[in-house]
Amino acid sequence: MDKLLIRGGRPLRGEIRISGAKNAALPELCAALLTAEPMTLQNIPRLQDVATMLKLIRNMGATADFSPDGTVLIDSKELHFPEAPYEMVKTMRAAVLALGPLLARFGEATVSLPGGCAIGARPVDQHIKGLQKMGAEIVIEHGYMIAKLPKGWTRLKGANIRTDMITVTGTENFMMAAALAEGETILENAAMEPEITDLGDMLNAMGAKVEGHGTERIRITGVDKLHGATHKVVADRIECGTFLCAVAATGGDVILRDGRIDHLEVVVEMLKKAGAHVEAVDGGIRVHSEGRLEAQSFKTTEYPGFPTDMQAQFMVLNVISEGDSKVTETIFENRFMHVSELMRMGAKIDVDGKVAITHGVERLSGATVMATDLRASASLVIAGLVADGETIVDRIYHLDRGYEQMEGKLTQLGADIERIK
Ligand code: EPU
Repeated sequence: MDKLLIRGGRPLRGEIRISGAKNAALPELCAALLTAEPMTLQNIPRLQDVATMLKLIRNMGATADFSPDGTVLIDSKELHFPEAPYEMVKTMRAAVLALGPLLARFGEATVSLPGGCAIGARPVDQHIKGLQKMGAEIVIEHGYMIAKLPKGWTRLKGANIRTDMITVTGTENFMMAAALAEGETILENAAMEPEITDLGDMLNAMGAKVEGHGTERIRITGVDKLHGATHKVVADRIECGTFLCAVAATGGDVILRDGRIDHLEVVVEMLKKAGAHVEAVDGGIRVHSEGRLEAQSFKTTEYPGFPTDMQAQFMVLNVISEGDSKVTETIFENRFMHVSELMRMGAKIDVDGKVAITHGVERLSGATVMATDLRASASLVIAGLVADGETIVDRIYHLDRGYEQMEGKLTQLGADIERIK
């Protein structure tokens, strides 16, 4: 298993490019299955999760070619196996995003239930209930969701769907299913993340009629057929936010090309309050900081609030900043796995349920650490970049799932970091 060896203490300086968003690319690869015509997706990040999704799509009988410039061509004309097997879903929950498009285009889909997850229970009950409202018949058998249309139906039917909580992939599944359904679908309490807006734009480029994506009420008027299109995946706001924190923590000066401040407003505000400088520059974001920052309290909420996917990385900033902070995680039940590892590096943190209180220390000391999810692993890399001495981050397959070339980009910025096989 690969590890990262980091020798801390170097400020990050220079320029890197932010990759396409993992959490936009994954639903969009599934949305490509809504048409029999060829689809071109640009700016797809080279990640383990993307590789798993491509494997899943090919396993269904479609072709998917990934060229070195980040373009994926998908042709699902010959798709004959509308199924997402357990072996693939267990390594990547986002495979549940195949359910809506397969059901909408083929009238049937079999998708494994995802099972447990390191950061929380993460059920998919809302996905099932919403698709049932559109007429789908879904049974759970042998760990699989087996979905089909009622006898005599050729399409799903538009419906009014209000989920019990805001769900990102749930909203995406409904948008994709509704694009080919008969009549109008209204999604209330919809997720508003930039990845949702990007998916809506892609569906419209394919001939769908989606309005209000990016707000809490999305209206989709179903069409008979979607056509091929070309779409460029939006920049990854979480990768961008992760680098913002890394630069602020190390006291560096970096330009993040293609980074979008408008997708990270709350995080940027918080960084500025802490004392870092963040500004929009032509085609990207410049971040620089010097000296010790001030710890900031925050609570994770759905977009446009503070992203749960940035909680661990910002917490590292807090533990080395001046003062105490209160970090509240409201989206997932178990997303403080980085805390005990950070404490092994000298951080002072008290956790009580959903709340972590950090007490700033002047320095962290390098140690061997590991995490069991993607963003927690990213936070440990940032901690390694600021810690004294050597840090080994173990189990970095989590990082490879969601960050394109993380150590390559950090090396480009002057970090002393290497992958040990
Ligand atoms: N929930 C349910 N039932 C459902 C769906 C969701 O109870 O049917 C609960 C979840 O358990 C959670 C909350 O609702 O407590 C919100 O979950 P959501 O459905 O929004 O999460 P998701 O769609 O599974 C996406 C991202 C996550 C990100 C969350 C929250 C993708 C592929 N994944 O997950 O990304 O943390 O939204 O913003 O888009 C990551 O990239 O590291 C990551 C975990």
